[in-house]
Amino acid sequence: MDSPPNPDEEIICQCFQVSDATIKAHIKNENLKEIEQVTEACGAGGGCQSCHMLIQLFIDQHHNPGKPPEPKNDDKEGGVKKRGFFSKLFQRY
Ligand code: FES
Repeated sequence: MDSPPNPDEEIICQCFQVSDATIKAHIKNENLKEIEQVTEACGAGGGCQSCHMLIQLFIDQHHNPGKPPEPKNDDKEGGVKKRGFFSKLFQRY
């Protein structure tokens, strides 16, 4: 583990008390591309995994600066088109 985070830094990984600055520094200095690599480097993401979304965001921001993240679902036309459990039960024919 790294040294305790600066109080000005935001703790991203609550399980291992790893700050945004620590995670970003490891991504930058070691050119990390996978969440698992970040976990090996500083421990962040090795517990409940609720911080994985933010770690992935930091990785994406480092490797694609200025580029907005790709949409993960079908909201390209502006509408929300999530397909949940009920959409499987009530399919349109
Ligand atoms: S908050 Fe990062 S692993 Fe739980």
